[in-house]
Amino acid sequence: MHDFEYRQGKLHCGEVPLEAIAREVGTPFYCYSLPTLHRHIQAFEEPLSGVDHQTCFAMKANSSLAILTYMARHGLGADVVSGGELYRALKSGVPGEKIVYSGVGKTTGEIEMAIAAGIMMFNIESEQELEVINECAGTLEKKAPISIRVNPDVDPMTHPYISTGMRENKFGIDVEASLAQYLKARDMENIEIVGIDCHIGSQLTDLSPFIDAVQRLKMLINRLKEHGIELKYLDLGGGLGITYSDEEPPHPRDYVRAVLDAVGPLGLKVIFEPGRVIVGNAGILVTSVLYRKQTGTKTFIVVDAGMSDLIRPSLYGAYHDIRPLEDKPEAREKVDVVGPICESGDFLAKNRDLPMLGRGDMIAVMSAGAYGFTMASNYNSRPKPPEVLVDGTRYYVVLKRQSYEDLVLGETVPKAILK
Ligand code: LLP
Repeated sequence: MHDFEYRQGKLHCGEVPLEAIAREVGTPFYCYSLPTLHRHIQAFEEPLSGVDHQTCFAMKANSSLAILTYMARHGLGADVVSGGELYRALKSGVPGEKIVYSGVGKTTGEIEMAIAAGIMMFNIESEQELEVINECAGTLEKKAPISIRVNPDVDPMTHPYISTGMRENKFGIDVEASLAQYLKARDMENIEIVGIDCHIGSQLTDLSPFIDAVQRLKMLINRLKEHGIELKYLDLGGGLGITYSDEEPPHPRDYVRAVLDAVGPLGLKVIFEPGRVIVGNAGILVTSVLYRKQTGTKTFIVVDAGMSDLIRPSLYGAYHDIRPLEDKPEAREKVDVVGPICESGDFLAKNRDLPMLGRGDMIAVMSAGAYGFTMASNYNSRPKPPEVLVDGTRYYVVLKRQSYEDLVLGETVPKAILK
């Protein structure tokens, strides 16, 4: 369900014609719907009412300060994976105790920053990381709260690049080794064991891998109890998929209920780290057609957004629906929609059946609210696009387009090479 609809033949976000935003900020630009965001938060939170839980939005999906601030105001916490994300979370008003810190490569600087912020817990990914966190906490004369990210070895049946909970992935610690790490952590002076964590992958459209993971974690929780280790938190990660084309992922309500059912009466606070399901279909990327180009066998629609703005099609072969801003019922054709970047992999859609598009026409690349802007780069020295947030009849430019000066910020040319 979203708020990007045609009205009198023009694609709108809420009450605002996207064309009007394009006139003000130019193209390409990201556009997010605040009411959709709100609905998605509600859809996730509603089945959790009365349940001891904390939803920690996975900021890697979208780290806009405006969006995070809105989430913080609605009680959400954050799942962070870098000092930069932690900085953004705190700046957006997310309290430290609602922040979980994931990721395989936390630096000592980042660890110290997180301890100082009083986060809920570090999700530990390796033995060495546990040791380093213990040391850092010692230096700061604090105790660091930790959970171990268990790799439950279940197949999430998703794209291999975004599957994380199988034995061969770099993430987490396998079940047997986790027990050993918990026992080790128990004896560490500056570590407080508070939870257990897993995240098995992203864009899952089936519930069974989530349930399998919960079962495996429960077995470990029981074994920990036998060793006298009691936990406070059960962190189930994120991963629920969305509809990009014809996928039929479970509704968040069904996901939450099924997972809670599998968890049963454990007496632990349940932590969720959803990303995509909250923001994915709340955002789009709007781009203009620069040229039509016909080769012997193909028609290319060259647009002003490319893999530097939205890398998902290039990196994962991901499908994003494409809609012209102006509804064109006439003739259709099969085209590749490609960007201006000097790479053959720079495309937004391949062999897509679209209405005839010409120079100056604008299109919306749908479902781009998650892992869109956050994965944007300056490749080919292209300024990053602006971000616009729409709320009914009003819209706000929450990030302005980068300028050429922004692109060279911080660069210096050593005098020596001017000789
Ligand atoms: N928690 C952890 C520890 C994660 O690694 C992730 C995503 C999430 C939560 C949120 O997962 P979600 O609910 O969004 O599925 N760039 C890829 C997705 C990478 C996901 C990485 N981890 C894409 O564009 O599809």
